[in-house]
Amino acid sequence: MSHPWRDVGDHGMRTSISPAEITALCGLAYQRDVLEVGTAWGYAAVMMAQKGARHVTTVDPHLPHDSNELATGTCQAAQQMMNYYGVADRVTIIQERADEILPRMRGNIYAPGALFDLVFVDGDHTVAATMHDLLWGLWLVRDGGFVACHDYGPDGLPSVTEAFDEVFPAGPSIQVDTLGIMQVWPRDA
Ligand SMILES: C[S@@+](CC[C@H](N)C(=O)[O-])C[C@H]1O[C@@H](n2cnc3c(N)ncnc32)[C@H](O)[C@@H]1O
Repeated sequence: MSHPWRDVGDHGMRTSISPAEITALCGLAYQRDVLEVGTAWGYAAVMMAQKGARHVTTVDPHLPHDSNELATGTCQAAQQMMNYYGVADRVTIIQERADEILPRMRGNIYAPGALFDLVFVDGDHTVAATMHDLLWGLWLVRDGGFVACHDYGPDGLPSVTEAFDEVFPAGPSIQVDTLGIMQVWPRDA
């Protein structure tokens, strides 16, 4: 099922992220470096930056796609949202597919050191793509950080739930609506 798209704010922004989910994301992002897969209009990026994220890097090809026919043209719209909401200096928008950019991210120009405290997966919702993004999220997140995934669980999407359960068989550490959240403990602990 997952949440329907809805209008937010006064500037033509749309999202399917619920109020409880964005509250949880903003809490995890506070004073942290965030990587988001799936920008769309930029709602989560704007909110996390406004509520105190140190930096948000957000990735989206902004092309029509099987799992989101709405995406064309959202890159320009997302940049306008960053300017309108006054967070352009704390949000980097990368117009690329996650499967192309994530493997190149560790230590590249977009994020020196390329380690994040929160990786938020909300891009291509197919099983394969979600698994890809979760596994790369695990690779890119700092020890003690979080990997969060939208559209998880009985009220989410079967494809996302299948991928999440495959990568994290014990299920999420915390779940808020359809946001499955895993804390990534130190690898040698
Ligand atoms: C549900 S929307 C994201 C919503 C957004 N996180 C928000 O705050 O409202 C999913 C987005 O994922 C993008 N997407 C599709 N395939 C992708 C891929 N391979 N890599 C990154 N993003 C992708 C789509 O273009 C679409 O804008």
